[in-house]
Amino acid sequence: MELDIVIRETTKEDFDIVSRFIELVDNDFCPSLSLRGGGILERVENTLATADSNYLVAQLRESGPSDELKGSIAMVGCTRKWQSEYGTYINFFATHPSFRRYGIGNLLHASLEQKLIEEGFKKIYLCTWSGNKRAMRFYEKLGYRIYSIILNDRGEGIHTFNYSKKLTSLKPQNNIR
Ligand SMILES: CC(C)(COP(=O)(O)OP(=O)(O)OC[C@H]1O[C@@H](n2cnc3c(N)ncnc32)[C@H](O)[C@@H]1OP(=O)(O)O)[C@@H](O)C(=O)NCCC(=O)NCCS
Repeated sequence: MELDIVIRETTKEDFDIVSRFIELVDNDFCPSLSLRGGGILERVENTLATADSNYLVAQLRESGPSDELKGSIAMVGCTRKWQSEYGTYINFFATHPSFRRYGIGNLLHASLEQKLIEEGFKKIYLCTWSGNKRAMRFYEKLGYRIYSIILNDRGEGIHTFNYSKKLTSLKPQNNIR
C-alpha cells in the first residue's frame, strides 16, 4: 500500500484528535482505557499538559474534510524520565484498525526510538497482557524482552507482562508494505 504519511509530535491543540483516536481503539485494551482512572479525556488532558509526556502521531498527509481523526492512522504515547532520568514509558500504542499489518506500527516505533535516542534516553519500558498475542509478537520482534510478570493483574488468568528494551542506534528503515 502506497501511503503518504507524516509523523509528528502532538500539542494541546491535538486534544480532540488524540481523544477520538483512543476512543476508536478503546476496546482493544484490557481493561478498556475508558474504564481506567479518570477515563480517556483525563488521560489525554494530563498527558498533553505534562512537560515530559506526549504522543507521536502518524497521519496521512491528505484526509477528507469529514475525517474527525484528520488522517491519524497510528499513535504512541510516551512518558519521559520514567524509573530514571534516562528511562521512558510507552503508555499507549495502537494502529487504526483499517491500517494494521502494513508496517505502520513499526514505522512509528522507529520514529519514536530515533527521537528518544537523540534526546539521550537509554531505555524504553512498556506493558501488555497475556491475551494480547499480536502486541507481544509486535514488541518482541522489535527487541523488547519481558522483565517481570504480574499474575492475574487484570482479572483471573490475565497477567501483566512488563517489557523493556535498551536504546541503541538504529539502522535506517522504511518498511511500509
Ligand atoms: C499491536 C499493533 C500496534 C501492531 O500494529 P501494526 O501497525 O499492525 O504492526 P506492523 O504492521 O508494523 O507489524 C509489525 C510486526 O508485528 C507483528 N504483528 C503485528 N500484528 C500482528 C498480528 N495480528 N498477529 C501476529 N503478529 C503481528 C508481526 O511480527 C509484524 O511483522 P510481520 O507483519 O512482518 O509479521 C496493532 O495490532 C494494534 O493497534 N493493536 C491494538 C492495540 C494494542 O493492542 N496495542 C498494544 C497495547 S500494549
